[in-house]
Amino acid sequence: MKLALTPLLAALTCQAVSAFPNLEPSALRPRASNPSILIDPPGFPPLPSAQQAAFQSAVVGLNLSNIQGDILIGMRKKKELFFFFSIDNPTAFKSRLGSDILPLITRTTQILPNATHPPATAVNIAFSQRGLNVLGIRDDLNDTNFKNGQMYNVTATLGDQTSYWEPAFAGHHIHGVFLVASDTIDKVKATLSRIQKISKGSISEVYRIQGHARPGNEQGHEHFGFLDGVSNPAVSGFAVAVPGQATVDPGIILLGESGDTGTRPDWAKDGSFLAFRQLQQRVPEFNKFLVDNALSEPGLNASENAELLGARMVGRWKSGAPIDLTPLKDDPVLAVDHNRNNDFNFTHPDDPNFDFKTNQSYCPFSAHIRKTNPRADIANPFNQHIIRAGIPYGPEVTDAENASNSSSTDPSLERGLAFVSYQSNIGQGFAFLQQVWANNKNEYLYFALRIGEDPIIGVALDGERFASGLDPKNQTRNITFNEDFVVSRGGEYFFSPSISAIQNTLSV
Ligand code: HEM
Repeated sequence: MKLALTPLLAALTCQAVSAFPNLEPSALRPRASNPSILIDPPGFPPLPSAQQAAFQSAVVGLNLSNIQGDILIGMRKKKELFFFFSIDNPTAFKSRLGSDILPLITRTTQILPNATHPPATAVNIAFSQRGLNVLGIRDDLNDTNFKNGQMYNVTATLGDQTSYWEPAFAGHHIHGVFLVASDTIDKVKATLSRIQKISKGSISEVYRIQGHARPGNEQGHEHFGFLDGVSNPAVSGFAVAVPGQATVDPGIILLGESGDTGTRPDWAKDGSFLAFRQLQQRVPEFNKFLVDNALSEPGLNASENAELLGARMVGRWKSGAPIDLTPLKDDPVLAVDHNRNNDFNFTHPDDPNFDFKTNQSYCPFSAHIRKTNPRADIANPFNQHIIRAGIPYGPEVTDAENASNSSSTDPSLERGLAFVSYQSNIGQGFAFLQQVWANNKNEYLYFALRIGEDPIIGVALDGERFASGLDPKNQTRNITFNEDFVVSRGGEYFFSPSISAIQNTLSV
């Protein structure tokens, strides 16, 4: 196997050079290694090395050097800026996109472990439907959500209250977004300045969000404190699944690849729809809710019972250990073992007395990870998968907020998740998960139980938000949420094009 790899890599490099003749040769020349811009918490499934990915992708004919680097790698950035822009002068922008911006765009092959020329700062770009219109693209990408934009009908579909939306997302000016990621904010800023200089006069800033991994031991954890990014599907041709991890056809994430059922223009191949959401997290309120509604499991003290409630709302302990494998107490060793921490499917086939359609003693039906990925609750493999690639934003909770159990109204203290998901079909990916699974209280798949909304992200369209199954001793008891812990501040749908689409279609 190893012997075959070297000529294969040489062939792939030649392929990359001949496919993108306009690239500066320096972009392809190996240079001194930069520090990694990615975090790698022990519980995350391992990323393939550049060499493994080259081998796996060649087997299925996936051209990883044509795919933007953010799409397949998941929630791993140290610092990431989302720079939302409007295109003021399309002709000038196109010319700069093709000449000076394209060489800055990071491909999947460049960002993987052991890549020969990892960038000091990674740059990706994506466009809204309005942005494609401004660029004069007439082809229909055949995704209704993308075409309409996120603001369209958002209250009825996703359950957002648009009064909480950032004006930038509610307006009509966002044509695109640059994603700029690095290991330091200074490097992010320097690269943004370079992009702004290159694009001077052709684009203007509409809005920005600076994301960063949380400090110290919280690195890899979202603001409620849970390790986030443990479970993403393995895309065949890119990664080999760890036990329990779903493997999906590349076309579930990438347009025009095997498994994508949409009719797409040829140039859209290897692009992906990016669903962006600014999700504010009300951390002191969440913590207070856990204390006020702590469970009463014998043998656990009050604080352990509060922690248990949080774990049952998410479906994992803060460490990342799944409650389906360790229901009443955390297991930090299991949490960091990527060969075990996804190896569950809610059904417990080894226990003949366990009926997964009624028994929620391991994991509630409403738990966030069960709502958004029901695993074997659905008998056959399903296509409702996304790759999550977001990052926390905002500062840590202050002492004053902790003491008052309430989030500050100071905008500079807002914190949350800059949520990003990639999929080839937004209605089958993000929008399906939010609308059909998370927000749906009345029916759970085939079990027809009234289980309530997803306790983390679910919105009650009728105003009465609750979840059942959270109390292991009384699984039909509804626990009511009188307030939301996650508040949507808006977002937009984008298309993250392939490198060849940027070069041959969007910049000409
Ligand atoms: C602030 C909002 C959110 C928070 C705090 C949050 C938190 C988490 C946490 C802690 C996990 C478990 C760790 C992991 O499996 O990686 C998780 C998993 C997941 N979340 Fe979220 N999430 C949020 C928003 C969303 C949204 C909006 C969606 C989609 C509509 C979503 C979909 C998923 C999926 C698909 C998984 C993986 C489930 C699995 O495969 O087991 N999340 N989330």
